[in-house]
Amino acid sequence: MTVATRVLRLATVLSLGLTAAAAGQSEASEGAGQADDPAVPAVNPTPHTEAAEKRGRTHYLRHCQICHGFDGRALENIDFEATDLTDPERWRFGTADGDLFRSTKFGAGLDMPPFEAELDDAEIWELVHYLRSIGPEEYRAAAEPENRP
Ligand code: HEC
Repeated sequence: MTVATRVLRLATVLSLGLTAAAAGQSEASEGAGQADDPAVPAVNPTPHTEAAEKRGRTHYLRHCQICHGFDGRALENIDFEATDLTDPERWRFGTADGDLFRSTKFGAGLDMPPFEAELDDAEIWELVHYLRSIGPEEYRAAAEPENRP
């Protein structure tokens, strides 16, 4: 995110009130490039269907496999280590649907690029369904509608 975008975003948040601004800032301080959008829901708002998951896989193959690998395990990187997306135990920026969404939309750490220009929100939520489908069952289950609080 450019400095200009960041300033613009902060100005918007400030105009919504100081409490919102504080929330946004504390989230942003968790990691460089981490999202600072407090409006992202924690649970995937897109219903989990086979079609949505399939579209998510297409987005993955097009935009993500170059760094995270065909199977999400990121074994073939040479320049830097992309995260193993099948292993939530190793994730640094949270394991909720909303965390995956934020890392994808706004970037994560130093080398995970933001995809807000390439993918719209609906496409990113489809991607989140795909990421759940390649991860461990217990994390997948948490995202199913019948298990939501
Ligand atoms: C240019 C290489 C690159 C591409 C392309 C890329 N990533 Fe990443 N990604 C990374 C790296 C490197 C990290 C580790 C960042 C860190 O931990 O500092 C990462 C981290 C992540 C994380 C955070 C994991 C955690 O630790 O919480 C998620 C989620 C993620 N990527 C999803 C995606 C998705 C989805 C796509 C496709 C839309 C994608 N990435 C495309 C390089 C990439």
